[in-house]
Amino acid sequence: ARITLRQLLDHAAEHDYGVPAFNISNMEQGLALMAAADATDSPVILQMSRGARAYANDLILSKLLDGLTELYPQIPVCIHLDHGNGVDTCVTAIQHGFTSVMMDGSLMADGTTPADYDYNAGITRRVVEIAHAAGVSVEGELGVLGSLETRQGDQEDGHGATGVLEEHQLLTDPDEAVRFVADTGVDALAIAMGTSHGAYKFTKEPDGSVLAMHVIEEIHRRLPDTHLVMHGSSSVPTDLCQIINDHGGAIRPTWGVPMEEIRRGIRHGVRKVNIDTDIRLAITAAVRSVMWDNPDEFDPRKFMAPAMTAVTKLATEKFEAFGTAGHA
Ligand code: G3H
Ligand code: 13P
Ligand code: NA
Ligand code: ZN
Repeated sequence: ARITLRQLLDHAAEHDYGVPAFNISNMEQGLALMAAADATDSPVILQMSRGARAYANDLILSKLLDGLTELYPQIPVCIHLDHGNGVDTCVTAIQHGFTSVMMDGSLMADGTTPADYDYNAGITRRVVEIAHAAGVSVEGELGVLGSLETRQGDQEDGHGATGVLEEHQLLTDPDEAVRFVADTGVDALAIAMGTSHGAYKFTKEPDGSVLAMHVIEEIHRRLPDTHLVMHGSSSVPTDLCQIINDHGGAIRPTWGVPMEEIRRGIRHGVRKVNIDTDIRLAITAAVRSVMWDNPDEFDPRKFMAPAMTAVTKLATEKFEAFGTAGHA
Protein backbone atom coordinates (compact mmCIF):
# COMPACT_ATOMS: atom_id res chain seq x y z
CA ALA A 1 0.00 0.00 0.00
CA ARG A 2 1.03 3.58 -0.61
CA ILE A 3 2.18 5.51 2.46
CA THR A 4 3.69 8.92 2.99
CA LEU A 5 7.31 9.62 3.78
CA ARG A 6 6.27 10.92 7.21
CA GLN A 7 4.44 7.69 8.06
CA LEU A 8 7.31 5.54 6.88
CA LEU A 9 10.13 7.50 8.51
CA ASP A 10 8.27 7.90 11.81
CA HIS A 11 8.12 4.10 11.93
CA ALA A 12 11.80 3.85 10.97
CA ALA A 13 12.76 6.29 13.73
CA GLU A 14 10.71 4.43 16.29
CA HIS A 15 12.43 1.16 15.36
CA ASP A 16 15.93 2.55 14.61
CA TYR A 17 16.28 1.60 10.96
CA GLY A 18 17.00 3.38 7.68
CA VAL A 19 15.07 3.12 4.43
CA PRO A 20 16.76 3.05 1.03
CA ALA A 21 15.21 5.47 -1.45
CA PHE A 22 15.87 3.97 -4.86
CA ASN A 23 15.70 6.03 -8.04
CA ILE A 24 13.74 4.45 -10.85
CA SER A 25 12.87 5.43 -14.40
CA ASN A 26 11.60 2.20 -15.90
CA MET A 27 9.59 -0.97 -15.38
CA GLU A 28 12.56 -3.26 -14.89
CA GLN A 29 13.92 -1.22 -11.99
CA GLY A 30 10.47 -1.05 -10.42
CA LEU A 31 9.84 -4.80 -10.70
CA ALA A 32 13.33 -5.71 -9.45
CA LEU A 33 13.14 -3.40 -6.43
CA MET A 34 9.67 -4.56 -5.43
CA ALA A 35 10.86 -8.16 -5.67
CA ALA A 36 13.67 -7.32 -3.21
CA ALA A 37 11.28 -5.49 -0.86
CA ASP A 38 8.96 -8.50 -0.95
CA ALA A 39 11.76 -11.04 -0.42
CA THR A 40 13.07 -9.15 2.63
CA ASP A 41 9.68 -7.97 3.94
CA SER A 42 10.80 -4.33 3.72
CA PRO A 43 9.00 -1.03 3.21
CA VAL A 44 10.54 0.94 0.33
CA ILE A 45 10.83 4.41 -1.15
CA LEU A 46 10.69 4.56 -4.94
CA GLN A 47 11.78 7.99 -6.14
CA MET A 48 11.67 9.64 -9.52
CA SER A 49 13.74 12.62 -10.61
CA ARG A 50 12.46 15.24 -13.04
CA GLY A 51 14.68 13.55 -15.62
CA ALA A 52 13.07 10.18 -14.88
CA ARG A 53 9.60 11.69 -15.26
CA ALA A 54 10.53 13.22 -18.60
CA TYR A 55 12.08 9.92 -19.75
CA ALA A 56 9.22 7.62 -18.76
CA ASN A 57 6.26 10.04 -19.03
CA ASP A 58 4.17 10.94 -15.97
CA LEU A 59 1.12 9.00 -17.14
CA ILE A 60 3.09 5.82 -17.82
CA LEU A 61 4.99 6.19 -14.55
CA SER A 62 1.85 6.65 -12.49
CA LYS A 63 0.26 3.54 -14.06
CA LEU A 64 3.48 1.62 -13.50
CA LEU A 65 3.44 2.62 -9.83
CA ASP A 66 -0.24 1.55 -9.61
CA GLY A 67 0.78 -1.83 -10.99
CA LEU A 68 3.76 -2.22 -8.68
CA THR A 69 1.81 -1.33 -5.56
CA GLU A 70 -1.14 -3.56 -6.53
CA LEU A 71 1.19 -6.46 -7.21
CA TYR A 72 2.59 -6.24 -3.66
CA PRO A 73 -0.30 -4.92 -1.53
CA GLN A 74 1.44 -5.94 1.71
CA ILE A 75 4.55 -3.81 1.02
CA PRO A 76 4.41 -0.17 2.23
CA VAL A 77 5.63 2.01 -0.65
CA CYS A 78 6.39 5.72 -0.52
CA ILE A 79 6.34 7.33 -3.96
CA HIS A 80 8.64 10.32 -3.85
CA LEU A 81 9.73 13.14 -6.15
CA ASP A 82 13.53 13.43 -6.06
CA HIS A 83 15.04 16.94 -6.36
CA GLY A 84 11.95 18.93 -7.27
CA ASN A 85 13.13 22.42 -8.27
CA GLY A 86 9.96 24.47 -7.99
CA VAL A 87 6.31 24.58 -6.98
CA ASP A 88 4.94 23.39 -10.35
CA THR A 89 6.97 20.20 -10.54
CA CYS A 90 5.95 19.31 -6.98
CA VAL A 91 2.27 19.96 -7.73
CA THR A 92 2.26 17.80 -10.88
CA ALA A 93 3.94 14.99 -8.92
CA ILE A 94 1.17 15.20 -6.30
CA GLN A 95 -1.42 15.12 -9.08
CA HIS A 96 0.14 11.88 -10.33
CA GLY A 97 -0.17 10.10 -6.99
CA PHE A 98 3.18 10.81 -5.35
CA THR A 99 2.92 10.60 -1.56
CA SER A 100 6.02 12.69 -0.96
CA VAL A 101 7.96 15.42 -2.74
CA MET A 102 11.40 16.88 -2.36
CA MET A 103 11.62 20.62 -2.81
CA ASP A 104 15.34 21.15 -3.31
CA GLY A 105 15.76 24.87 -2.79
CA SER A 106 19.47 24.55 -1.99
CA LEU A 107 20.03 25.46 -5.62
CA MET A 108 18.13 27.96 -7.73
CA ALA A 109 15.68 26.54 -10.29
CA ASP A 110 18.52 26.41 -12.86
CA GLY A 111 19.98 23.55 -10.82
CA THR A 112 23.48 25.00 -10.69
CA THR A 113 23.45 28.23 -8.65
CA PRO A 114 23.61 27.89 -4.85
CA ALA A 115 20.54 29.61 -3.36
CA ASP A 116 20.42 31.93 -0.37
CA TYR A 117 18.54 31.04 2.82
CA ASP A 118 15.50 33.22 2.15
CA TYR A 119 14.88 31.78 -1.32
CA ASN A 120 15.21 28.21 -0.04
CA ALA A 121 13.04 28.67 3.05
CA GLY A 122 10.41 30.66 1.13
CA ILE A 123 9.88 28.23 -1.73
CA THR A 124 10.07 25.18 0.56
CA ARG A 125 7.45 26.73 2.86
CA ARG A 126 5.09 27.22 -0.11
CA VAL A 127 5.51 23.58 -1.17
CA VAL A 128 4.89 22.40 2.42
CA GLU A 129 1.62 24.37 2.57
CA ILE A 130 0.37 22.84 -0.67
CA ALA A 131 1.63 19.31 -0.05
CA HIS A 132 0.43 19.04 3.54
CA ALA A 133 -3.03 20.21 2.47
CA ALA A 134 -3.04 17.21 0.12
CA GLY A 135 -1.71 14.78 2.75
CA VAL A 136 1.70 14.60 1.07
CA SER A 137 5.08 14.78 2.85
CA VAL A 138 7.94 17.13 2.00
CA GLU A 139 11.72 16.73 2.05
CA GLY A 140 13.78 19.91 2.00
CA GLU A 141 17.51 20.37 1.53
CA LEU A 142 19.87 22.71 3.31
CA GLY A 143 23.49 22.85 2.17
CA VAL A 144 24.94 22.17 -1.26
CA LEU A 145 26.04 18.67 -2.19
CA GLY A 146 29.57 18.34 -3.50
CA SER A 147 32.94 16.84 -2.78
CA LEU A 148 34.74 18.02 0.35
CA GLU A 149 37.88 16.65 -1.28
CA THR A 150 37.77 18.80 -4.42
CA ARG A 151 35.09 21.28 -3.29
CA GLN A 152 33.35 20.75 -6.63
CA GLY A 153 29.59 20.34 -7.00
CA ASP A 154 28.45 17.13 -8.72
CA GLN A 155 28.32 18.38 -12.26
CA GLU A 156 28.70 15.00 -13.89
CA ASP A 157 24.98 14.41 -13.23
CA GLY A 158 24.25 17.69 -14.95
CA HIS A 159 22.40 19.19 -12.00
CA GLY A 160 24.91 20.10 -9.31
CA ALA A 161 26.46 23.40 -8.36
CA THR A 162 29.13 24.71 -10.72
CA GLY A 163 32.49 26.11 -9.68
CA VAL A 164 34.45 25.75 -6.48
CA LEU A 165 32.32 25.81 -3.33
CA GLU A 166 33.20 27.09 0.13
CA GLU A 167 33.60 24.46 2.80
CA HIS A 168 30.76 25.96 4.85
CA GLN A 169 28.41 25.49 1.87
CA LEU A 170 29.30 21.79 1.77
CA LEU A 171 28.42 21.19 5.44
CA THR A 172 24.94 22.03 6.70
CA ASP A 173 25.05 24.49 9.61
CA PRO A 174 23.10 23.07 12.60
CA ASP A 175 21.81 26.51 13.70
CA GLU A 176 20.50 27.16 10.21
CA ALA A 177 18.94 23.67 10.11
CA VAL A 178 16.94 24.40 13.28
CA ARG A 179 15.76 27.68 11.82
CA PHE A 180 14.93 26.09 8.44
CA VAL A 181 12.77 23.34 9.93
CA ALA A 182 10.89 25.89 12.06
CA ASP A 183 10.41 28.22 9.08
CA THR A 184 9.28 25.52 6.62
CA GLY A 185 7.69 22.61 8.50
CA VAL A 186 9.44 19.97 6.37
CA ASP A 187 9.03 16.32 7.34
CA ALA A 188 12.54 15.33 6.34
CA LEU A 189 15.74 17.27 5.80
CA ALA A 190 18.51 16.45 3.36
CA ILE A 191 21.82 17.63 4.72
CA ALA A 192 25.25 18.19 3.18
CA MET A 193 27.88 16.26 5.14
CA GLY A 194 30.43 14.83 2.77
CA THR A 195 28.56 12.93 0.09
CA SER A 196 28.04 13.86 -3.54
CA HIS A 197 25.98 12.42 -6.38
CA GLY A 198 27.26 10.05 -9.02
CA ALA A 199 30.00 7.43 -9.29
CA TYR A 200 32.98 9.68 -8.58
CA LYS A 201 32.70 10.56 -4.90
CA PHE A 202 36.20 9.87 -3.56
CA THR A 203 39.48 9.60 -5.45
CA LYS A 204 41.05 7.21 -2.97
CA GLU A 205 39.83 4.40 -0.77
CA PRO A 206 38.12 6.05 2.21
CA ASP A 207 39.88 5.46 5.52
CA GLY A 208 38.18 6.39 8.76
CA SER A 209 35.14 8.60 8.54
CA VAL A 210 34.05 10.01 5.19
CA LEU A 211 30.84 11.50 6.58
CA ALA A 212 30.91 14.61 8.75
CA MET A 213 29.44 12.63 11.63
CA HIS A 214 29.64 15.58 14.04
CA VAL A 215 27.30 17.53 11.75
CA ILE A 216 24.82 14.64 11.58
CA GLU A 217 24.97 14.09 15.34
CA GLU A 218 24.52 17.77 16.17
CA ILE A 219 21.58 18.24 13.80
CA HIS A 220 19.93 15.05 15.06
CA ARG A 221 20.43 16.11 18.68
CA ARG A 222 18.79 19.47 18.03
CA LEU A 223 16.06 18.22 15.66
CA PRO A 224 15.15 14.77 16.99
CA ASP A 225 11.76 14.77 15.21
CA THR A 226 13.13 15.73 11.80
CA HIS A 227 14.14 12.75 9.72
CA LEU A 228 17.56 13.21 8.12
CA VAL A 229 18.22 12.30 4.52
CA MET A 230 21.53 11.32 2.99
CA HIS A 231 21.84 11.94 -0.72
CA GLY A 232 24.71 10.51 -2.73
CA SER A 233 24.74 7.30 -0.69
CA SER A 234 25.81 4.78 -3.28
CA SER A 235 28.74 2.59 -2.25
CA VAL A 236 30.05 2.24 -5.85
CA PRO A 237 30.98 -1.45 -5.45
CA THR A 238 34.44 -2.19 -6.82
CA ASP A 239 33.34 -5.57 -8.16
CA LEU A 240 30.62 -3.98 -10.31
CA CYS A 241 33.08 -1.41 -11.72
CA GLN A 242 35.48 -4.28 -12.46
CA ILE A 243 32.80 -6.30 -14.31
CA ILE A 244 31.90 -3.24 -16.37
CA ASN A 245 35.53 -2.59 -17.25
CA ASP A 246 36.20 -6.27 -18.03
CA HIS A 247 33.40 -6.13 -20.60
CA GLY A 248 34.35 -3.05 -22.60
CA GLY A 249 33.45 -0.34 -20.10
CA ALA A 250 35.61 2.54 -18.88
CA ILE A 251 34.75 3.49 -15.31
CA ARG A 252 37.66 5.48 -13.85
CA PRO A 253 39.10 4.46 -10.45
CA THR A 254 36.66 5.65 -7.80
CA TRP A 255 35.18 5.01 -4.36
CA GLY A 256 31.74 5.54 -2.87
CA VAL A 257 30.34 5.72 0.65
CA PRO A 258 31.23 2.55 2.60
CA MET A 259 28.22 0.64 3.93
CA GLU A 260 29.55 0.93 7.50
CA GLU A 261 29.49 4.74 7.23
CA ILE A 262 25.84 4.66 6.20
CA ARG A 263 25.08 2.41 9.15
CA ARG A 264 26.75 4.97 11.44
CA GLY A 265 24.55 7.68 9.92
CA ILE A 266 21.46 5.54 10.58
CA ARG A 267 22.52 5.24 14.23
CA HIS A 268 22.42 9.07 14.36
CA GLY A 269 19.08 9.95 12.84
CA VAL A 270 19.53 9.29 9.12
CA ARG A 271 16.30 7.60 7.96
CA LYS A 272 16.24 8.01 4.16
CA VAL A 273 19.26 6.87 2.18
CA ASN A 274 19.27 7.82 -1.52
CA ILE A 275 20.67 5.33 -4.01
CA ASP A 276 20.73 5.65 -7.78
CA THR A 277 24.30 5.11 -8.98
CA ASP A 278 24.66 1.58 -7.54
CA ILE A 279 21.53 0.48 -9.42
CA ARG A 280 22.86 2.00 -12.63
CA LEU A 281 26.17 0.15 -12.13
CA ALA A 282 24.42 -3.17 -11.42
CA ILE A 283 22.35 -2.86 -14.59
CA THR A 284 25.30 -1.80 -16.72
CA ALA A 285 27.46 -4.64 -15.42
CA ALA A 286 24.76 -7.20 -16.23
CA VAL A 287 23.90 -5.81 -19.66
CA ARG A 288 27.55 -5.44 -20.69
CA SER A 289 28.37 -8.98 -19.56
CA VAL A 290 25.55 -10.55 -21.56
CA MET A 291 26.28 -8.46 -24.64
CA TRP A 292 30.02 -9.12 -24.48
CA ASP A 293 29.66 -12.84 -23.93
CA ASN A 294 26.82 -13.27 -26.46
CA PRO A 295 27.45 -10.92 -29.37
CA ASP A 296 24.79 -12.71 -31.47
CA GLU A 297 22.05 -11.95 -28.90
CA PHE A 298 19.52 -9.22 -29.73
CA ASP A 299 16.45 -9.95 -27.59
CA PRO A 300 16.35 -7.13 -25.00
CA ARG A 301 14.84 -9.50 -22.46
CA LYS A 302 18.10 -11.45 -22.51
CA PHE A 303 19.88 -8.31 -21.31
CA MET A 304 17.22 -6.95 -18.98
CA ALA A 305 16.28 -10.13 -17.10
CA PRO A 306 19.83 -10.54 -15.71
CA ALA A 307 19.87 -6.80 -15.01
CA MET A 308 16.72 -7.19 -12.91
CA THR A 309 18.27 -10.11 -11.04
CA ALA A 310 21.32 -7.95 -10.30
CA VAL A 311 19.17 -5.04 -9.03
CA THR A 312 17.15 -7.37 -6.80
CA LYS A 313 20.38 -8.75 -5.29
CA LEU A 314 21.83 -5.28 -4.71
CA ALA A 315 18.63 -3.96 -3.13
CA THR A 316 18.31 -7.03 -0.92
CA GLU A 317 21.78 -6.27 0.50
CA LYS A 318 20.77 -2.65 1.21
CA PHE A 319 17.52 -3.63 2.96
CA GLU A 320 19.47 -6.03 5.16
CA ALA A 321 22.36 -3.64 5.89
CA PHE A 322 20.10 -0.67 6.72
CA GLY A 323 17.90 -2.72 9.07
CA THR A 324 14.83 -2.23 6.86
CA ALA A 325 14.26 -5.97 6.42
CA GLY A 326 11.36 -7.37 8.39
CA HIS A 327 9.63 -4.00 8.87
CA ALA A 328 7.00 -4.16 6.09
O1 G3H B 1 20.12 13.15 -7.77
C1 G3H B 1 20.20 12.59 -8.84
C2 G3H B 1 19.64 11.27 -9.11
O2 G3H B 1 20.69 10.35 -9.22
C3 G3H B 1 18.77 11.33 -10.35
O3 G3H B 1 19.54 11.58 -11.48
O4 G3H B 1 18.47 13.48 -12.72
O5 G3H B 1 19.94 11.80 -13.89
O6 G3H B 1 17.65 11.16 -13.09
P1 G3H B 1 18.86 12.04 -12.87
P1 13P C 1 23.96 8.32 -5.72
O1 13P C 1 24.41 9.02 -6.97
O2 13P C 1 25.07 8.16 -4.73
O3 13P C 1 23.31 7.01 -6.01
O4 13P C 1 22.87 9.26 -5.00
C1 13P C 1 21.56 9.35 -5.52
C2 13P C 1 20.79 10.49 -4.95
O5 13P C 1 21.17 11.14 -3.99
C3 13P C 1 19.50 10.80 -5.60
O6 13P C 1 18.89 11.93 -5.06
NA1 NA D 1 15.01 13.19 -2.57
ZN1 ZN E 1 20.10 13.54 -4.49
